Amino acid sequence: MVVHLATNASLLNSVETFQRAVYAIHSFGMALPLIEWGFIFLPLLFHGFVGVWIAVNGRSNTSNYPYINNRRYTWQRWTGLIALVFLLVHVFHLHGWFHFHVWLDLVAHPLGMANFKPYNAASTLARAMGSWPWRIFYLIGVLACVYHLANGLWTAGITWGLWISAAAQERATKICTVFGVLLAFVGVAAWWGAIVTDPVKAETIENRMYPAAVEAGAVPLSVEKRTQPDPTVEAPADPDDAAEELEKPEDPEEPKTP
Ligand code: HEM
Repeated sequence: MVVHLATNASLLNSVETFQRAVYAIHSFGMALPLIEWGFIFLPLLFHGFVGVWIAVNGRSNTSNYPYINNRRYTWQRWTGLIALVFLLVHVFHLHGWFHFHVWLDLVAHPLGMANFKPYNAASTLARAMGSWPWRIFYLIGVLACVYHLANGLWTAGITWGLWISAAAQERATKICTVFGVLLAFVGVAAWWGAIVTDPVKAETIENRMYPAAVEAGAVPLSVEKRTQPDPTVEAPADPDDAAEELEKPEDPEEPKTP
């Protein structure tokens, strides 16, 4: 989450910075779905379902002992629930969950989901975050995730026996609070970056970067990872056709502008 929010916050620096970061992620090529499912989706789903089980079966004693740490436990469960809903919707909204055609054509796209195109990263993100209901949803979701992580580290430290004494727990509270505040700042920066980006200007920059990145071998060529219809290629139906388009030499007769 720290890496993810920092990557997204890099959009505040420039469209180019964010696009380069997304290219770096997508340079894994065919291995990317394995990394996503093995290290992100499945662990998160596991954590989500175990969390719901605990939230449903755990017994809160906050009404008997209304101390701050008990209230933190209640908040932990509520933010966990918000984070679960946020993540299920967020990954559907931008990624689409699955990338096979039947799913995209019959489910994700008709529902207005799977909006993020990695080779048009900033412009598609900015368009996906273009309305206030989505913006508010993201702000609440990001802050809930940040609280859940920062406070969750504190409770995990107790479970693992890292801070047992009252003094150690107090020190850990301070460290987790600083971590949470800093991460919230990065999260809001990521959110803000997506809101203030002009998608039209961003798309122009992305379309300039794309042929250079493919030619340099930084990313594998993929028409599907671009805004559709692909604005830089005449007939984008087949990735092989697009490859030929990119490889076409420039017309030597065409006058060059200085
Ligand atoms: C304003 C804040 C956020 C922005 C702008 C943002 C943006 C994005 C983008 C652009 C993607 C890529 C979709 C794709 O690969 O097709 C993505 C995926 C994802 N995001 Fe976020 N995100 C934000 C907050 C969060 C938070 C708080 C979490 C919590 C853990 C999160 C978890 C994920 C996950 C699990 C994925 C799917 C991973 C993947 O595609 O490989 N995001 N997000």
